[in-house]
Amino acid sequence: MIISPWRRAERSAALVVDDLTVSLGGRELVRGVRLAIAATERVALIGASGSGKSLTAAAVLGTLPVGAEVRGSVRVAGADVTRLPPARRSAAARVAAVGQDPAAALNPLVPVGAQLALPLRNHRGLGGAALASERTRLLAAVGLGDADRVLRSTAGELSGGQRQRVCIAMALASRAGLLVADEPTTALDLVTQAQVVAVLREASRDAALLFITHDLAVAASLCDRAVVLHAGAVVEDAPITRLLTAPQHEQSAALVDAARAGALPARMGAAS
Ligand SMILES: Nc1ncnc2c1ncn2[C@@H]1O[C@H](COP(=O)(O)OP(=O)(O)OP(=O)(O)O)[C@@H](O)[C@H]1O
Ligand SMILES: [Mg+2]
Repeated sequence: MIISPWRRAERSAALVVDDLTVSLGGRELVRGVRLAIAATERVALIGASGSGKSLTAAAVLGTLPVGAEVRGSVRVAGADVTRLPPARRSAAARVAAVGQDPAAALNPLVPVGAQLALPLRNHRGLGGAALASERTRLLAAVGLGDADRVLRSTAGELSGGQRQRVCIAMALASRAGLLVADEPTTALDLVTQAQVVAVLREASRDAALLFITHDLAVAASLCDRAVVLHAGAVVEDAPITRLLTAPQHEQSAALVDAARAGALPARMGAAS
């Protein structure tokens, strides 16, 4: 018997989104989305602009706009967190977020060191020397070796790539079992993009990753499976290699064509 990816992932899932519908102002913008991510699995949520990727992510994170109507369910590590804002979720159901705009995610006035200390203190109860050494370890883990300088800097004193690494370090600091990254590389140049993807690959060794992008080439360099959204609904859920070689839906095929028109990472070339 063939077990669908959804059923397989559901068994030991970090995330299960079941029949999720999100409406705003009477418009259904996410329609019956089902997706599941196993612990330490990396799944890409891809689709054209406006297909509902960020709204789906917001439902998972508990950050939907006020007035959003939600049907269906979101379960994180087995806990039903549908409609629950982050502050009302249990530690086990914590989801860490990395966004598209690291400049907006960081407080421009507060040095990175103080910002990185918050999740370590609040979520992990660290202080003193333990906090200081964990902060340095996290920065090293995201490839920021010059920790003292970075900790003293404010966001404006760092490059875009450095800021995004800081944001990933902050996401890792809370030790959430699920990381949601919404277009984390879109604002970066190609070289920095590849570096941040490598950092995310390392970062997601101990956590599940929902990686949102409209760029299938970037998704293929990081994830094993992709869920394709079109007009708010899932149109395909498949291993990335299969999506690349035999897309089943015309929207998937359009994303494959777009990726092939750009630079193909080695792995995609090998898949054909
Ligand atoms: N706060 C909001 N109020 C009303 N409509 C919204 C709101 N946020 C998103 N939408 C609409 O919902 C649909 C899906 O938006 P969403 O941001 O999820 O798209 P996306 O797939 O993330 O696109 P992109 O690749 O451009 O980021 C779009 O039609 C968008 O205009
Ligand atoms: Mg978006």
